[in-house]
Amino acid sequence: MSGPSLWQAAAHQAVHEAQETEVAQGLAWLAAFNRRQDPAAARVAAALVETWNQRVLAHLTAEEDDLYPWLRQARPQVRGLLDQLAAEHAALTRAVAAARAALEEKGPDAVAAVLEPALDLLRRHARREESLLASPAAAVPVRPVRAHS
Ligand SMILES: [Fe+2]
Ligand SMILES: [Fe+2]
Repeated sequence: MSGPSLWQAAAHQAVHEAQETEVAQGLAWLAAFNRRQDPAAARVAAALVETWNQRVLAHLTAEEDDLYPWLRQARPQVRGLLDQLAAEHAALTRAVAAARAALEEKGPDAVAAVLEPALDLLRRHARREESLLASPAAAVPVRPVRAHS
């Protein structure tokens, strides 16, 4: 996801909430399938890893391609916080890779064991990022317009 939503605190928050709801729902389904040792649990786990990839990691990539570099340049006072947020992106990316490996090597229980704490981190990260975007220090009054040349 890119475009104006990333730059507007309220719209960005709505994107986070939609992501969190989707992955939390997927984790709840996976837990239910795992509890009854349903053979379809592996398919549910695979779908959940793909949801993280397409919804969460794509969002982090869009932020690092566009929002974070601009903030880093325009708001030097928040660089420390941006470093922390970028480190959290890296940790979330590692978690999805670990979930993918767990799916291939260990099974759907192991996927849940990786992605449950990852959802906690995602939530903490999102709240931190939303606080930054809502703070005057990071105010982004107008999305910069890129020259097309
Ligand atoms: Fe982020
Ligand atoms: Fe975000």
